[in-house]
Amino acid sequence: MTHRQRRRPSLATGLPLFFLTYFARMSHQQSQGAVTDYAPQVGVQCPDVSINPLIRVFTPQNQSLHPREQEYIKGRQAVIEDAWADWLGDGSGVSYNVSAFAGHFPKVGMAIPGGGLRSAQYGAACLNGLDSRNERAKQAGTGGLLQVSSYLTGLSGGSWVTSSLVFNNWPTVEDLVFGNGKDLTGWLLDLSLATPDGVNILSDKNQEYYGSLLWSVMAKAQTGIDTSMTDPWSRMISFHFLNQTTRNNFFTNDSAHGAGQLFSKIPDIPAYQQHQMPFPILVADSRPVGSNLTTILGLDPIVYEITPLEFGSYDPNLSAMVNITYAGTHLTNGIPVNGSSCVTGFDQAGFMMGTSASLFNQLFDFARNTIAGFSDSDSAGLLYVLSRQLQEVRTRADDVANWPSPFNGLNPRTFEDSDATWLELLDGSSNQENIPYSPLFVRSRELDVIVTIEGSADDATAWPNGTGPIFSARRQSTILRASHQQFPPIPPTPDAFIETGVRARPTFFGCDPTQTPPEWPLMIYLPNAPPINGDDPATNTATFALSYTQKHQKLFFDQVFNLTTQGFTPNSQLPDPNFGVCLQCAAIDRARLKITPVPSRSAICTQCFQQYCFDPQNPPSKSALPGRKLAFVDPDPQGLTKVNGFLSSNMYKLIGGLAGLVGFLFVLILGLLWWRKRRERKTEYHQVSGLHDEDDAPWKRYSDSNTKTHEAYEMPEHRGSLVSR
Ligand SMILES: *[C@@H]1O[C@H](CO)[C@@H](O)[C@H](O)[C@H]1NC(C)=O
Ligand SMILES: *[C@@H]1O[C@H](CO)[C@@H](O)[C@H](O)[C@H]1NC(C)=O
Ligand SMILES: *[C@@H]1O[C@H](CO)[C@@H](O)[C@H](O)[C@H]1NC(C)=O
Ligand SMILES: *[C@@H]1O[C@H](CO)[C@@H](O)[C@H](O)[C@H]1NC(C)=O
Ligand SMILES: *[C@@H]1O[C@H](CO)[C@@H](O)[C@H](O)[C@H]1NC(C)=O
Ligand SMILES: *[C@@H]1O[C@H](CO)[C@@H](O)[C@H](O)[C@H]1NC(C)=O
Ligand SMILES: *[C@@H]1O[C@H](CO)[C@@H](O)[C@H](O)[C@H]1NC(C)=O
Ligand SMILES: *[C@@H]1O[C@H](CO)[C@@H](O)[C@H](O)[C@H]1NC(C)=O
Ligand SMILES: *[C@@H]1O[C@H](CO)[C@@H](O)[C@H](O)[C@H]1NC(C)=O
Ligand SMILES: *[C@@H]1O[C@H](CO)[C@@H](O)[C@H](O)[C@H]1NC(C)=O
Repeated sequence: MTHRQRRRPSLATGLPLFFLTYFARMSHQQSQGAVTDYAPQVGVQCPDVSINPLIRVFTPQNQSLHPREQEYIKGRQAVIEDAWADWLGDGSGVSYNVSAFAGHFPKVGMAIPGGGLRSAQYGAACLNGLDSRNERAKQAGTGGLLQVSSYLTGLSGGSWVTSSLVFNNWPTVEDLVFGNGKDLTGWLLDLSLATPDGVNILSDKNQEYYGSLLWSVMAKAQTGIDTSMTDPWSRMISFHFLNQTTRNNFFTNDSAHGAGQLFSKIPDIPAYQQHQMPFPILVADSRPVGSNLTTILGLDPIVYEITPLEFGSYDPNLSAMVNITYAGTHLTNGIPVNGSSCVTGFDQAGFMMGTSASLFNQLFDFARNTIAGFSDSDSAGLLYVLSRQLQEVRTRADDVANWPSPFNGLNPRTFEDSDATWLELLDGSSNQENIPYSPLFVRSRELDVIVTIEGSADDATAWPNGTGPIFSARRQSTILRASHQQFPPIPPTPDAFIETGVRARPTFFGCDPTQTPPEWPLMIYLPNAPPINGDDPATNTATFALSYTQKHQKLFFDQVFNLTTQGFTPNSQLPDPNFGVCLQCAAIDRARLKITPVPSRSAICTQCFQQYCFDPQNPPSKSALPGRKLAFVDPDPQGLTKVNGFLSSNMYKLIGGLAGLVGFLFVLILGLLWWRKRRERKTEYHQVSGLHDEDDAPWKRYSDSNTKTHEAYEMPEHRGSLVSR
């Protein structure tokens, strides 16, 4: 391979990786950077923290937003005033005098949950139905809600669509996902995240791909910052959701594949500068350091958020934020070790998405799925990359996203990781709050309307059953009482979510607050659901499917577009021609409460609310939704069906008690895989990759002389014995 021809001479002379990196950077300077741009910069001059503090601390009582977030939202509100007018016209549709609402429009936020490529696509397709740039959505009356939104939060798979929109300068969803034949090449979801060249993980192209991922990860590890499986995973995600990757350069190092793109650079993106996008926020959970939990978390551990400006949490027990530019810096009570110990570039966009989707409490889920039904090749690909990484670089906890803690020393009485120097971040759904609500309910953000783009797979047929909202409602009414708004009334259990049918058609929650100002925001809940016309559903796919055929993707998008734009007609399989107006009624309703005298709800909106609002006193029934088919039917069978069936029926049962066993099996597989590969290495690897020329591998030299030898890998004991033998 050309790459090897380039690298061999360096190997011969034993040039350390950082020279390779340097040359790679040089040769790519004119183009798109190098994959090694994934590495953060260490030893950066710190700002004078006595004048420009790197952290912001507050309490729930004096909670404040970052001044530049406030500024952004203010700028966005100006754009939004026009967007409301564009959406609602003169208001005759909703029968309000819209000009009376000027300056009082509700503040809207949207949330896209986790669920891998399913929820990323559900999120994308749903936004497509709410986007006024889409002519069909505009005609349906639903296109416009996106344009009046101030915030967009994403978690795990939801963080991928959110970040993808942002880092591609806020294109239309169809261009983003399917490509526009110009600068956008689409998400390329037919190329699996784990095995893009097909099932043979040892194929030349797969090897080049893994080599490229690992090259990025090793460049990061060289800086002394500990990596984990989250890092190669983040790189896999970047190939699809960040720009710079095309079908032609997928298996090359000719592009950085998004490696140098940073969250802190979002403010430079044109659409951000023009306030064309809602303010994006990603959500991640944390595992109490030292707990080594491999099961679902309780509701106590801090829930973090990542914005273009800050990383931290409004949870009362932490109440602190760090400047995102310096997020990889160890700080104690806000003070760096010394004036030149700062880290920048840790806020790499792929790693932010990877953190929010960090498997490894969840990887154990992954491994479990692997073991009994998950596509063998995908799991082999993932495990293979991890095993190779573990041979090459030091990791900390392999199964979490490792973040140097900027919050060491803060709030020792309430912040449980106050004495930790590293944070262990996890997939945002790890505490069962699969929907990234928490940033949207933060009191000082003052949201009036929250749109849930609900692509969770909860029940046995991979439809939502309210689990995410129920856990968030619980956390907000207990742990977050002081810092967050309350959740509107919802059915109290998953069974009730199912029986009332609110999980299978658009529903509005909290329509009628009892206090002024309202005690909760109004919630527009748009769940993934079977087609109303009785077609077989193609959208309740497995979270762990790592590729989609193009045919499936198209049908998926069309079905979700219909769901988003058609509403429902009770006791029938027909669309609701008024749904667009009803959605407008829900979005604008809180504006009434901001002016005096409060205008009464219009007749058309009252009618809409009777149909779409959840009234706990008089709950609806799923029997009003006849003829819906729940069972997934693969429109383009490629072996997905079996996987889906297994996963959805076993996913949650397996979590608790079996996790330990699963962890053990994972380790076993990892070890065996590694052992087998090691035996084959002399022949196989020699041909397909220079990476395993063990003794003269450049990063090894570098690490021997500069940081740690591989004997010093900080591997968890149980794993180390298998892997680093
Ligand atoms: C909020 O209050 C805390 C102590 O209660 C104080 O340390 C902090 O400086 C205050 N922050 C702001 C922004 O007022
Ligand atoms: C609509 O509201 C505006 C601003 O409050 C007011 O000037 C106008 O007279 C109202 N129009 C009608 C038809 O009530
Ligand atoms: C890719 O995204 C980055 C960051 O948003 C942007 O600066 C760059 O112009 C984009 N490149 C292309 C080819 O779209
Ligand atoms: C990209 O670089 C890595 C590290 O040198 C290598 O393993 C991989 O094979 C390269 N890929 C290609 C296509 O050259
Ligand atoms: C982060 O710190 C740098 C240096 O003090 C400053 O220029 C930048 O504005 C800060 N960013 C945020 C979001 O506070
Ligand atoms: C500053 O701290 C860093 C990280 O601990 C260390 O590597 C470096 O040597 C220190 N520099 C000085 C000038 O003390
Ligand atoms: C948060 O702080 C409260 C005390 O204010 C404590 O009871 C609770 O256990 C803390 N939660 C965690 C997760 O540390
Ligand atoms: C609802 O979903 C949760 C997981 O999100 C699952 O554990 C539970 O069994 C489901 N309940 C019903 C009634 O579907
Ligand atoms: C979407 O709805 C339209 C109108 O009801 C229907 O003709 C079309 O077949 C639907 N598309 C899908 C993919 O269900
Ligand atoms: C977690 O793992 C670390 C490293 O293997 C170990 O030192 C620690 O004792 C473990 N903690 C618990 C609670 O098991």
